[in-house]
Amino acid sequence: MKITVIGAGNVGATCAQRLVDKELANEVVLVDVIEGVPQGKGLDMFEATPVEKTDVKVVGTNGYDETANSDIIILTAGIARKPGMSRDDLMNTNSAIVKSCTEQAVAKSPKSIIIVVSNPLDVMTYVAWKVSGFEKHRVMGMAGVLDAARFRSFIAMELNVSVEDVNAFVLGGHGDSMVPLPRYSTVAGIPITELMNKETLDRLVTRTRNGGIEIVNFLKTGSAYYAPSSSAVLMAESIVKNKKRILPCAVYLQGEYGINDNFVGVPVKLGSKGIEEIIQIKLTADEQAALNKSAEEVKAQIAKLKL
Ligand code: NAI
Ligand code: 2OP
Repeated sequence: MKITVIGAGNVGATCAQRLVDKELANEVVLVDVIEGVPQGKGLDMFEATPVEKTDVKVVGTNGYDETANSDIIILTAGIARKPGMSRDDLMNTNSAIVKSCTEQAVAKSPKSIIIVVSNPLDVMTYVAWKVSGFEKHRVMGMAGVLDAARFRSFIAMELNVSVEDVNAFVLGGHGDSMVPLPRYSTVAGIPITELMNKETLDRLVTRTRNGGIEIVNFLKTGSAYYAPSSSAVLMAESIVKNKKRILPCAVYLQGEYGINDNFVGVPVKLGSKGIEEIIQIKLTADEQAALNKSAEEVKAQIAKLKL
């Protein structure tokens, strides 16, 4: 198993570190355009392996030769948000970066599975899919796992219970119109609608929608990366170990949920082949309307792309 992480910034380097610490690959390759940074971070990470007792080769590079025959590519290259910026402000810069990284990566690893992290997430996943020419089950975006993790954290904080017992689902695009689903969110199997009143629930849903900007406003110089890297690595783990986890991921829909030719976050089964199944759950009219709205926003952005 060989995993390439493109972008050796906050998310990329932390992804690589988590992959190495969890020994999810024999080799992890870290790529960035900044000379010395992937090499330095890669070497530093490798020097931690004797202490961590993990046998993983870590390579840092500014090119793609070293990435050849990767099984998984995690694409984190691009600029991140600063206060006052929306994810969409990143679109023009990041679409050019994602296009160029995808072209170079897939030329060396034509059989890989791509997990996109760069923002705006759903649109960048479309770019990677379009440019790669890969089948739809081999290109997916990470957002729902992160958004659901935030929702789970806020529920656990509110109820003062273990995060382990909290499950939550968030559908839709990774943006202000994401669709947290309280009906499918539980604490040890108990629907959260039984455990908190509507006012509290609405407050947690709003905090989840604003989870990204909450961190940006604290950090001021960038955006979140600990929870995002955990989330991307969870997806990679399900693929590497063929675990068949059911996780919300941004995937190409062709009629599922009544949505066509668009990347939207929905629950999928992740295994060694990538997206092995799109799980269709029954939505209420309100939930479906919220998902449609979120999907339309992604579609409008895709229409503005100049690839
Ligand atoms: P960062 O600024 O720390 O790192 C980005 C790295 O990409 C930099 O090291 C930069 O040199 C590199 N890069 C730029 N152009 C490149 C190219 N052509 N080839 C290779 N590397 C290149 O940013 P951070 O925090 O790591 O975020 C990365 C991206 O992930 C951003 O677009 C951010 O908005 C997004 N993100 C998405 C999340 C999600 O839920 N989908 C969560 C967190 C971040
Ligand atoms: C986040 O949600 C910036 O999209 C990123 O933290």
